[in-house]
Amino acid sequence: MAPISAPKILTTSTFSRLSLLFTLSILMHYYSSEATLPPQTTEMVLYFQDFASGANFTLIPVAGIAGKLWTFSQFGTVFVTDDFITETPDQDSPMVGRGQGMYVTSALDGSSTHAMFSIVFVNQAYNGSTLSIQGTGKQFEAVREYAVVGGTGKFRFARGYTTFETISVDPPRGHSVIRCNVTIRHD
Ligand SMILES: *[C@@H]1O[C@H](CO)[C@@H](O)[C@H](O)[C@H]1NC(C)=O
Ligand SMILES: *[C@@H]1O[C@H](CO)[C@@H](O)[C@H](O)[C@H]1NC(C)=O
Ligand SMILES: *[C@@H]1O[C@H](CO)[C@@H](O)[C@H](O)[C@H]1NC(C)=O
Repeated sequence: MAPISAPKILTTSTFSRLSLLFTLSILMHYYSSEATLPPQTTEMVLYFQDFASGANFTLIPVAGIAGKLWTFSQFGTVFVTDDFITETPDQDSPMVGRGQGMYVTSALDGSSTHAMFSIVFVNQAYNGSTLSIQGTGKQFEAVREYAVVGGTGKFRFARGYTTFETISVDPPRGHSVIRCNVTIRHD
């Protein structure tokens, strides 16, 4: 059994001082978050349709160390991607945008990839707006998290984070569906 600590005795005056401090700290917190936090929070669930092989590939290694296989687990391999992004896991569902940019295998042991890409929206709600995704992620883990470092159009001053989870893989077609959850604050 854990030892029982002696009860702390608060006098009335200590108590009222504490409650004044508490009220002040709530007010200060309120005003500081009003001043610094962008006003809106947006959450989205998107699906990246990724084709790593076949005639209509959307992900391809373009550079790497000479004499090594240019694979995701090989340090120094650079991939370029232009995945299309849909509303549901179904590749024929309405298009939301495209995921355009690069990945570089940036850990010597191949475990991490550095992502630098944009989500370029083409749907009615956000047409032409973009989000910039950047950072390193443990590429072989079930959930990979990357920062949203900025945005344009409806997402000016955006910051937040995204998680990526591969939810289905079809090896003969080189097709993967990756769920991307976005949480951002922006103007
Ligand atoms: C690639 O895209 C073209 C044009 O959209 C289409 O005709 C063709 O069937 C596609 N090929 C494969 C293997 O999906
Ligand atoms: C998005 O904008 C482009 C041109 O800026 C336009 O051609 C296209 O129809 C728009 N798409 C939607 C879904 O509004
Ligand atoms: C992403 O969103 C879906 C749908 O809301 C949810 O089921 C899933 O757990 C989320 N993934 C993460 C890593 O939060």
